[in-house]
Amino acid sequence: MNRSELARTAQAMVAKGKGILAADESTGTIRKRFDAIKLESTEEHRRAYRELLFSAPGAPDSISGVILFDETIRQQTADGTPFPQYLAQHGIIPGIKVDQGAKPLAGFPGETVTEGLDGLRERLIGYRQLGARFAKWRAVIDIAAGIPTAFAIEANAHALARYAALCQENDIVPIVEPEVLMDGDHSIERCEEVTDATLSCVFQRLQDHRIYLEGMVLKPNMVISGKKAAQRAAPEAVAEATVRCLKRHVPPAVPGIAFLSGGQSPTEATLHLSLINRAGPLPWSLTFSYGRALQETALAAWGGRSSAFKAGQQEFARRARLNGLASSGRYTAEMEKAA
Ligand code: 13P
Repeated sequence: MNRSELARTAQAMVAKGKGILAADESTGTIRKRFDAIKLESTEEHRRAYRELLFSAPGAPDSISGVILFDETIRQQTADGTPFPQYLAQHGIIPGIKVDQGAKPLAGFPGETVTEGLDGLRERLIGYRQLGARFAKWRAVIDIAAGIPTAFAIEANAHALARYAALCQENDIVPIVEPEVLMDGDHSIERCEEVTDATLSCVFQRLQDHRIYLEGMVLKPNMVISGKKAAQRAAPEAVAEATVRCLKRHVPPAVPGIAFLSGGQSPTEATLHLSLINRAGPLPWSLTFSYGRALQETALAAWGGRSSAFKAGQQEFARRARLNGLASSGRYTAEMEKAA
């Protein structure tokens, strides 16, 4: 394990004013996104869309890294440059999703455990050769009546820690993503309780598995009301609860925290991140690792039409810039009109 390389990469992933683009949608998920713009999900359409994002003028000012999917890390730009090389040439660190999805946890109805540990060492070696310098593994914790159980949290935390150890063994920075879902009608208090339990367990297991904390990035949910809650907590309350929860569990040795957007609207996700960054001095860099909140409006602007390629790029670069500002607390809602 090359500790200084791991620490350098982790710091670069959460560098001031920048964040991460999650573009690692699996084939099934990207099909759903393309369905929304009535575009067939062919390999070439997926490639063209990823090229739109990766080559958007101005985006590298606000994007430190991109999480790729297995198919994408092997694809190329229209003029034949492999995507990982293209990104690296533009100062963007290539990363790779390595989990194989959340699968039903036997004996625990409604709960899942993320799979993908078998053969992971060999896959990591291959991905590093293709240019990946960081990886992502997403654990999913759902909130509903009677769940999550402590057992499901434990099973997911254990898998996250084993994944993280294998990444570091191969000089790949692990993004550790325990996502407490915002589906459902639960209160912000319930989200805080479950996020507390989850982060507590995850950091215990990371310590047990001898993870080098300086060489990882945490990707958590914000502490937020469920999407279907009758009364949703105000943005200021989300920022306050999120910071309180992170302070309880995330050691200062961790260089950065990059939030997932998890179904928040693009503007909501940007505002929350900006308010979080106004909470005063904190030991870690707090930024974004958004999928939907960075891509939704760009995808709609493009609509699969080659005539709208530039419009899609402009929209993506705009959201990236606004989130970059939010990562240092300098975004305000008024900027949506001006930009
Ligand atoms: P969202 O921001 O759309 O939640 O996606 C981020 C991600 O990478 C989930 O694993």
